[in-house]
Amino acid sequence: MITTTGLTKVYRSRGRDVTALDGVDLHVREGEVFGVVGRSGAGKSSLIRCVNLLERPTSGTVVVDGRDLTALAGRGPRAGAELRRARSRIGMVFQHFNLLSSRTVQGNVELPLEILGLPGRERARKARELLGLVGLADHARSWPAQLSGGQKQRVGIARALAGDPGVLLSDEATSALDPETTRSVLALLRDLNRQLGLTVLLITHEMDVVKTVCDSAALMRDGKVAESGTVSGLLATPGSELARELFPLGGATPAGEAETGKETVRERTVVDVTFHGESTGRPLISQLSRAQGVDVSILGAAMDTIGGRQVGRMRIELPGRREDNAVPIGFLRERGLTVEFPEAAGAARAPETPETPETVEKTR
Ligand SMILES: Nc1ncnc2c1ncn2[C@@H]1O[C@H](COP(=O)(O)OP(=O)(O)OP(=O)(O)O)[C@@H](O)[C@H]1O
Ligand SMILES: [Mg+2]
Repeated sequence: MITTTGLTKVYRSRGRDVTALDGVDLHVREGEVFGVVGRSGAGKSSLIRCVNLLERPTSGTVVVDGRDLTALAGRGPRAGAELRRARSRIGMVFQHFNLLSSRTVQGNVELPLEILGLPGRERARKARELLGLVGLADHARSWPAQLSGGQKQRVGIARALAGDPGVLLSDEATSALDPETTRSVLALLRDLNRQLGLTVLLITHEMDVVKTVCDSAALMRDGKVAESGTVSGLLATPGSELARELFPLGGATPAGEAETGKETVRERTVVDVTFHGESTGRPLISQLSRAQGVDVSILGAAMDTIGGRQVGRMRIELPGRREDNAVPIGFLRERGLTVEFPEAAGAARAPETPETPETVEKTR
């Protein structure tokens, strides 16, 4: 539904070049909720503003719903007619709502309908329908100043839906809201996604947002996409930074071993295991113990619901070095579990492949 290819944005300000986007390839599938996370300055807002051509990318292409927007003329408020038309099918929700205080709630939702040239009666009908959709049917005549933050954002969402968009872009739509209100606005976005088949691309810095509503996610760093994929795919990817942030695992870290000093160091292997899909409900650890005769110690464990699915994580300890544990680790992997070797706390993180001998023993 949205594909960016080699998207680059360089801002020139006061003789200096700032590269905000550096070759971003992103693919958002039709009907999914896609979350983009990253630190401040990573380029998230630049990405979203380039997707609807509020900013003209320096290079690269943006295709939305089969249409190459970068090939259409104009930008920002000076967009040509074709680009304006294409853009009316892309809704945009902002962090600070951007409502006009001089217009009623209904008047705010009617604004884009006026721009689209709908006659008065039709505008009023459509605006009331949209307000019903976001749960504000009773507030059509209120003024923005009379609404709570959550209600204002609902007006912002109703307004974004005026052009019957296939795509909704949201830049930190919930970051000015308290946790409870955030949850209700996210639930609304999820409902709209399902009811209207709306594709949602949302920017956030809260991992909880990704956890609650996103089907897929990307991590941006320094203008690049560092990781991306479906949330369940990321959780199943060894070494995924997003997976670790989505589902942090407490429990003992291998760092404690170094402190055993001169005493006999017990050979052991610490392993992080992620259960997802059907493996979540199976007693695989006790099977491992029985079938392989291995004494498994559990150092930490947690269950969570991510993207509507149960996911479990467990940090376990196996006797012997990693080389001695090829069979039990193979046993778990064969059964669809993701098995990772956590690095010692504070140790630099090496790029990981399952075969890299980045073991606990090595970091001692
Ligand atoms: N209009 C602009 N002119 C010059 N530099 C800009 C402009 N907009 C953004 N930048 C720079 O581009 C980089 C990316 O900014 P961007 O706003 O896309 O980051 P972000 O990920 O949205 O950050 P935040 O989480 O703080 O909103 C930053 O270094 C920023 O200073
Ligand atoms: Mg931003």
